[in-house]
Amino acid sequence: MKAFLLSAAVLLVFGLYLPTASVFAEDPAVLFEKLTCHTCHGPQGRGMIRTEDKERYWLRQKKMYRQMVKEGIPTATVKKLIPLYKKKFDDKGKFIQAIEAHIGKEKTDQYQDIIIKIAGRVYYHKGDLIPGFEDYPRHAGNKKLYLYRQMKDILEGKRTNGNSDAMRGIRPYIESNKITDDDFRSIAEYLSNVKP
Ligand code: HEC
Repeated sequence: MKAFLLSAAVLLVFGLYLPTASVFAEDPAVLFEKLTCHTCHGPQGRGMIRTEDKERYWLRQKKMYRQMVKEGIPTATVKKLIPLYKKKFDDKGKFIQAIEAHIGKEKTDQYQDIIIKIAGRVYYHKGDLIPGFEDYPRHAGNKKLYLYRQMKDILEGKRTNGNSDAMRGIRPYIESNKITDDDFRSIAEYLSNVKP
């Protein structure tokens, strides 16, 4: 029992010690994530932009069929689309293909705009800025000395504006991870080498 408790204590001590001690110089790319930098500056400092599209095409309600009739699609054609009820498509191309399989190409060309207007929902596109982060800076490809100095100035409170308080929220992580000046320099160098 004693031996067990002892090894548990050793594990606990190491478990607490290892993640916080900077015994080894850490990979700046890893640090950038570990210190949560990417949650405001995007993956690899490329900015907070959407990395993929989010759209959905989905005839999820019966009233959508009624709406299609109202918008001028013949009832017989709309009825042929019933097998699509509640099927989800993340991709517009695949949705159109499915429509074509049911009503043929000619009618699809004729009515697809109406169907998509009713059944399509676009949340965002790849490359769109994520709301709330529109005025947060990107770092990829910026000058390393500039990045280094700005980081230091913000964290030391020499650069202050309406946004910099958000960044100063990471001070506890900087301290608990014992981040050194060399770490800041290597993060800045790493970011400067990322292709924007
Ligand atoms: C909670 C959000 C947030 C986190 C986390 C964060 N930052 Fe920032 N950072 C900002 C904001 C907002 C600014 C702009 C502040 C200003 O204008 O003074 C900024 C500015 C910077 C700048 C100056 C950029 C320029 O173009 O002038 C650098 C460099 C930087 N951050 C690096 C980092 C690094 C490295 C980390 C992780 C250790 C980090 N930031 C974590 C929000 C954040």
